[in-house]
Amino acid sequence: MVIIVPFSTKFLRQVRDLWVSSDVLSNTAIKADLSLKEAESKLVNPDVFSIVALEGEKALGAARLCFGKSKKSHCAEFVVFVGKQDRRKGVGSLLLEEILFESKKRGLKRLELTVFEDNSPAIKLYEKMGFVKEGVKKEGLQREGKFFDEIMMARVLD
Ligand SMILES: CC(C)(COP(=O)(O)OP(=O)(O)OC[C@H]1O[C@@H](n2cnc3c(N)ncnc32)[C@H](O)[C@@H]1OP(=O)(O)O)[C@@H](O)C(=O)NCCC(=O)NCCS
Repeated sequence: MVIIVPFSTKFLRQVRDLWVSSDVLSNTAIKADLSLKEAESKLVNPDVFSIVALEGEKALGAARLCFGKSKKSHCAEFVVFVGKQDRRKGVGSLLLEEILFESKKRGLKRLELTVFEDNSPAIKLYEKMGFVKEGVKKEGLQREGKFFDEIMMARVLD
């Protein structure tokens, strides 16, 4: 059974290793040599809420919600990732449901993100969870020397 729990440092190494695994790395803004200390400071600080998907003691994936400030304090951005061997089993959806639940609980009005144009698994997941494409930053992202459109997506919370 998969459960979603708040991030705790006992899952730090597993989550860091998932975060820097090759295709998560190529689709997120994280750096390849992310140290445990750097990962911890991104996952545990007053501006974020981080969760882990667990099967027993194994971390299958994680998500990190990052709160806006000042005129963006009603908004948050998030990142979600699942280990390659555990995809298409609903883990990403579970993580996102918890992110939505927590965001509403905190009274947030808007969740937003940007994604590579070629990341169709993520785009489909977001659309399934009620996010819509709001715009495109032409060639706004790059990977391995190639430029990609950056798709802006959001969901306004009720
Ligand atoms: C995006 C990601 C988190 C999805 O996680 P997941 O656990 O596989 O997602 P789910 O199993 O909950 O899938 C939910 C829906 O997303 C869509 N989806 C997910 N993977 C898909 C794929 N490979 N092809 C097509 N649709 C896909 C489907 O609509 C799916 O619903 P369905 O299984 O009922 O058809 C995962 O692919 C991942 O970690 N990718 C690498 C990191 C990343 O790109 N993160 C997002 C950065 S913006």
